[in-house]
Amino acid sequence: MTQTYHQFRLDLATALTGFLDPEEAQAECSRWFEEGLGLSRSWMSAHGADLVPVEVRRKVGDWLRRRRTGEPWAYILGWSLFRGRRFKVTPDTLIPRPETELLVEAALEVGRRLKVEHCVDVGTGSGIIAVSLALETDWQLAASELSPGALAVARKNAEQLGAAIQFHEGSLLNPVPDPVGLVVANLPYVDPADQPTLQRELAFEPSSALFAPDRGLALSTALLVQARARKSPACLLEIGADQGGELCRSALGSGWRKAMVHQDFAGHDRVLVALA
Ligand SMILES: C[S@@+](CC[C@H](N)C(=O)[O-])C[C@H]1O[C@@H](n2cnc3c(N)ncnc32)[C@H](O)[C@@H]1O
Repeated sequence: MTQTYHQFRLDLATALTGFLDPEEAQAECSRWFEEGLGLSRSWMSAHGADLVPVEVRRKVGDWLRRRRTGEPWAYILGWSLFRGRRFKVTPDTLIPRPETELLVEAALEVGRRLKVEHCVDVGTGSGIIAVSLALETDWQLAASELSPGALAVARKNAEQLGAAIQFHEGSLLNPVPDPVGLVVANLPYVDPADQPTLQRELAFEPSSALFAPDRGLALSTALLVQARARKSPACLLEIGADQGGELCRSALGSGWRKAMVHQDFAGHDRVLVALA
């Protein structure tokens, strides 16, 4: 069957509407063309009447089969953008979330104000936080990660983006030598009890990157204690929408002088800042 690019795009948008809401389907359709096929809007304006080669139709058919099962587009594509940089992602890593930019912005602000020289990203995953901070400051960056698969992806991203980072495999700050400096982390913070109600796409991400015991609080609480004991000047954590109050109390209880919460654009608790 022959088909023009113009018709092919319309058919793809219709197929995506079969399992995504219409706005999401349009946005994904554009991403599939631009990110997946490398065909820009201006290329489409000039070549919309060209015929689509069979291998392109096969490739998109394969993406559609995978996407219909709930597999996220970033895993199908193999990369995702964060702060304008392209990061490799695999099923071993969490897909970068836009909210994490707020954590990076807060870390830049606090780190510059405190004139830190060292910084560690705990639970680095694909390395988005460590790489962004390494490339946007002159701090010495370290990163820790429990999952060897994720750590391999983070190393590759750092190498490809030219970021100098000391990577350490292990739990929280345990494998990181002194001085740790500013501690930044987007650790798992989802309550395991919420699992049945979550979006089906999340089932494709590693559960060890999403869930933490004690209603999602266990790792954040443990890191606040460790970072304080390791003389960090500040600890910044990405947190769950309703975890601010409890984690501020934990921070003060573990010896931090001050603790405050920044909210995201939706008005949810998102970043905890604990200061020594
Ligand atoms: C929510 S993901 C965040 C990944 C990345 N920092 C980001 O923002 O996209 C949490 C990461 O923490 C790692 N992790 C879980 N428990 C850990 C622990 N005890 N010590 C270090 N890393 C851990 C997971 O493997 C996962 O890569």
